[in-house]
Amino acid sequence: MIIKTVNLETVCGVTSRLPENDKPEIAFAGKSNVGKSSLINALMNRKSYARISAQPGKTQTINFYNINEALYYVDLPGYGYAKVSLTEKEKWGRMIENYLKKSRQLKCVFLLVDIRHEPSVNDRQMYDWIVHNGYEPVVIATKLDKIKRSQLQKQLKLLRSGLGIGSQVTVIPFSAETKQGRDEIWDLIEQLTSG
Ligand code: GTP
Ligand code: MG
Repeated sequence: MIIKTVNLETVCGVTSRLPENDKPEIAFAGKSNVGKSSLINALMNRKSYARISAQPGKTQTINFYNINEALYYVDLPGYGYAKVSLTEKEKWGRMIENYLKKSRQLKCVFLLVDIRHEPSVNDRQMYDWIVHNGYEPVVIATKLDKIKRSQLQKQLKLLRSGLGIGSQVTVIPFSAETKQGRDEIWDLIEQLTSG
């Protein structure tokens, strides 16, 4: 995909109304620190347009990035961050759920899972939640540069069994450091948002 323009167009907090966009949306979900903002930056060809942090729990809003005036990348708040209060977690949970339910333009939800670890209960819940809302998730296995190539197949197996998914579900290994996997993700986004 050729990126001509990017623009953080809408930022939604818990009390904001969601925008009624007229262009297709692709959303990125996953636990805090998994690499959602980093992936979005890579998919925008920008180093740090979407905020990245070593401190998890940074993206606390739903951020809509207008790409080429043709589609939106939607950065969802990360779940599962221990230091956030339960009421706060519930608010975010409802905010994400509300978005999944209400968006008319959402074409696909990418679920990000760290390739180094077995998926958590929260990851599995998020996966089931996406399916429950009628979407077919695409799984991105992040931080690919952090494992040895010899570990890849074993980690992918662990990921599939942890999420309870079969071979029909697409899993794309990705690294924000090396950009490995980016072209495949771009191709998929183009397929999902064209026409
Ligand atoms: P929240 O906004 O808290 O939900 O986090 P996030 O999912 O947006 O994660 P973010 O992109 O901010 O990345 C978290 C940390 O992981 C940062 O220190 C990133 O530099 C690092 N990181 C993200 N992706 C990769 C990757 O592919 N490889 C490596 N080595 N580090 C990564
Ligand atoms: Mg983020």
